[in-house]
Amino acid sequence: MKVLGIESTAHTFGIGVVDGKGKILADERNIYQPKEGIVPIEAADFHRENSSKILEKIEKKINLEEIDLIGISTGPGLPPCLNYGLKFSRKLAERLKKPLIGINHCQAHIEIGKFLTKAKDPIILYVSGGNTQIIYNNRGYKILGETQDIGIGNAIDKLGRAAGIKFPAGPEIEKIAKQGKFVLLPYSVKGMDLNFSGILTEAMRKIEKGEKKEDVLHSFQEVCFSMLAEVCERALAAIEKNELILVGGVAQNKRLQQMLKIMCKDRKVKLTVVPKKFAGDNGTMIALTALINWKEEKRIEPKANPNWRIDSI
Ligand code: ATP
Ligand code: FE2
Repeated sequence: MKVLGIESTAHTFGIGVVDGKGKILADERNIYQPKEGIVPIEAADFHRENSSKILEKIEKKINLEEIDLIGISTGPGLPPCLNYGLKFSRKLAERLKKPLIGINHCQAHIEIGKFLTKAKDPIILYVSGGNTQIIYNNRGYKILGETQDIGIGNAIDKLGRAAGIKFPAGPEIEKIAKQGKFVLLPYSVKGMDLNFSGILTEAMRKIEKGEKKEDVLHSFQEVCFSMLAEVCERALAAIEKNELILVGGVAQNKRLQQMLKIMCKDRKVKLTVVPKKFAGDNGTMIALTALINWKEEKRIEPKANPNWRIDSI
């Protein structure tokens, strides 16, 4: 069996192909890089301009006639991007005469993380642009805690913009933060939930006031990542699991990994991190999740669902 997955919920147009055991056979993607924040219509235009090029690259490696199933990420995401992705995938499914199923983007980040790290029954910290959630599996995905305002990745990118760093700002902020020293910023954990917008406002105010960029960026990482470590620790204690996996674009951050590692070592918990190449958005995670759902006979109708929550799958 060969499964093709298409990702086009936001900034990335990606296609990936896996075989019936989940082995990755091909992965191609292009990422839209806006000057300011993402403009949804512009992002959809980017997908339109890049989709054929990406598919051509895939066709150099894979005979598309051998594809048995197609998955398309149908949410959560930006409506113009979701609509274009659906149009593109429907056309491909018709051409190949193969079934097309809808895939939840958040489930895909989690499933590729679990598959590549060989985790069995972990608590999951999913940290990306739009999402920040602590999740575990118990007859479906259960959210133990989450951000009550913006996702950690979006907060990082907004702070980056204020500091003159281009999108996506995470990797550059991580580098600059190494040279900074700690200045006080608010800390906001409420039970199992988190808030980032107040911290972001204060950090942006400090940058506008001319405080040292490296100090503000360093402190922002320290505070936000400590908050994440705190809620993960509480989740591990409450649900009594001995595995934690870190998935989503922000999972690439070494300082976040280091903080979680210290906490996990203390609790004798095994920490694993999704490999860098598959941390951010990609088509392979959609293909892999399509394979998993197909085997479990979960066939979701492919229609756009911009606010689709993982606990409602
Ligand atoms: P969602 O999955 O919630 O829909 P998304 O798809 O936009 O959001 P991803 O592609 O998973 O998000 O991740 C992108 C985010 O990861 C960006 O906000 C980017 O700044 C952040 N990021 C990437 N590398 C790093 C890093 N080294 N440190 C911190 N953040 C990072
Ligand atoms: Fe994502």
